[in-house]
Amino acid sequence: MSGESAADPVRLCGRGDLVAGEARCFAVDGRRVALARIGEEFFAVDDTCSHADFSLSEGDVDVDECALECPAHGSLFDLRTGEALTLPAVVPVVAHDVAVTGEGVFVTLRER
Ligand code: FES
Repeated sequence: MSGESAADPVRLCGRGDLVAGEARCFAVDGRRVALARIGEEFFAVDDTCSHADFSLSEGDVDVDECALECPAHGSLFDLRTGEALTLPAVVPVVAHDVAVTGEGVFVTLRER
């Protein structure tokens, strides 16, 4: 069921553990998830680039585009939708649901 939530929310970190403009990889239920912070907002997408096996969280956060830049070949992925915005990647990555509470930052994984 593509796009459906697959699991219960999982706490990744505290709100203050990522600074604005930072991305970091977390392992969640056997998947690698890139969590990125832009201002006070948090976004989560699958960490592995859809073009080749590189970690998106090692790339730069593009604050203006609300995107994550693959460190290998520079494709931008929209952090809200997972859409590949620029070549060479053309396949989206999965964007996950994020909730921020007083307890921290939680992600609910979506199916591929
Ligand atoms: S591995 Fe990400 S754009 Fe090529």
